[in-house]
Amino acid sequence: MHLQIVGGNRLVGTVTAAGSKNAALALMAAAMLPAGETVLRGVPRIADIEVFRALMASVGAPSEWTDRHTLVISGGGLLDQTPPVELARKMRASYYLMGPLLGRLGRARVGLPGGCTIGARPVDLHLKAFAALGARTGIEAGEAWAEARRLRGADMTLVGPFGPSVGATINALLAACVTPGVSRIHGAAQEPEVVEVTAFLNRAGARIAGAGTGLIEVEGVRRLQAVAYDVPGDRIEAATYLLAGAATGGDVQVEGVAPWALDGLPRLLTQMGCACATEAGAVRVVAPPRLQAVEAVTGPFPALATDIQPVLVAALCRAQGGSLVEERVFDARFGYTSELERLGAQIRIVAGATAVITGVARLGGAPMSGTDLRATAALVVGALTAEGESQVEGLAFLDRGYEGLERKFASLGADIRRVGAPLRTTAVKQEAVR
Ligand code: EPZ
Repeated sequence: MHLQIVGGNRLVGTVTAAGSKNAALALMAAAMLPAGETVLRGVPRIADIEVFRALMASVGAPSEWTDRHTLVISGGGLLDQTPPVELARKMRASYYLMGPLLGRLGRARVGLPGGCTIGARPVDLHLKAFAALGARTGIEAGEAWAEARRLRGADMTLVGPFGPSVGATINALLAACVTPGVSRIHGAAQEPEVVEVTAFLNRAGARIAGAGTGLIEVEGVRRLQAVAYDVPGDRIEAATYLLAGAATGGDVQVEGVAPWALDGLPRLLTQMGCACATEAGAVRVVAPPRLQAVEAVTGPFPALATDIQPVLVAALCRAQGGSLVEERVFDARFGYTSELERLGAQIRIVAGATAVITGVARLGGAPMSGTDLRATAALVVGALTAEGESQVEGLAFLDRGYEGLERKFASLGADIRRVGAPLRTTAVKQEAVR
């Protein structure tokens, strides 16, 4: 299965962002804390959500779809057991089971995936948070564990070598909000997902202040009540459509996303020569035929999100002049650039951390293969800007995080379709492994 894309069409129109994958995963984990039935509305129908549902069900928190995007999660029957390791290894976010299990049962053990195509993904900061709350922690036989007879509120600092951690901050919140005493998370991540989980937990009865800043204070409560909550629109998905619109000289509006959550993207789009307008719940970009080169650096919020980086690089391949995009969150997130080079893009990676992109006037279609979610989205954006036909493989990655990507691009005027037939010759495949 692959996407067949005939590039070069100017993308024009309006699309609505699906619910945020990364907010929904964290909110689902948070829904394990109340004993009743939590209702999450606007949950995207993507593969990662299904894997996480299965993981939650395996530890006694089953869920049901009551309509296309509404998930009802039962937190009443949480079990003291380890989720099947082959399931846990399927996704990074399996670590989100640990905070609620530790907070409610005093024990958690979860299998963790190994290295990943975007760089190291350690869990030391997650375990540091649990240890600060009084748990014994460790990693054994590919599983992370934490155990405590009694947890108590504590101060903790969660900054790693690349800055704050979104996952560790949320896991700390999930455990601390039901732990007696006051906890303070210094060096907390400020991403919108942290703000969302906090809003959910506070609606459920938690007492958390400071989310969205580097210091979060949590006063533990005995129990939480089940509530209903709307998952916010996906900021990374929104950025994907906006950058694709910009790269094709188009006029694209994305609805259902809060502009404040898009980091510095509107400003960056303006520097790239676009007109970018924001209003409550919508962002619109109107682009010139060729973008201007820019310099951009990813980082923890409010800097440019690392998840936007691959799509931004793809959009800059046809810009006028030389662009620099520096990656400061993950240590190996440029692997996809050799695939973009098949289109004729000129990208050089300096010191593993900076992409130097020399804009070219024309890209030509080519077969390409994605290696992770955002990288595959970047290849799609590259193909949309290239003249002629491209094929993009790696749909299993794309389907982990984008609901209806080709349908949305087609509604904007892209010539894109999913094709079931096997794609490429052995020769091309061998070349891809180089
Ligand atoms: C979340 O991952 C997202 N995933 C990622 O999105 C996103 O790229 C990342 O945040 C950064 O914004 C989910 O929300 C499910 P981190 P997370 O802990 O929380 C280091 C996507 O494509 N670190 O904020 O796991 C880490 O190596 C995915 O949707 C430690 O050193 O990321 C990285 O350099 C990909 N020790 C930095 O912190 C730890 O214990 C930030 O990672 C944890 C992290």
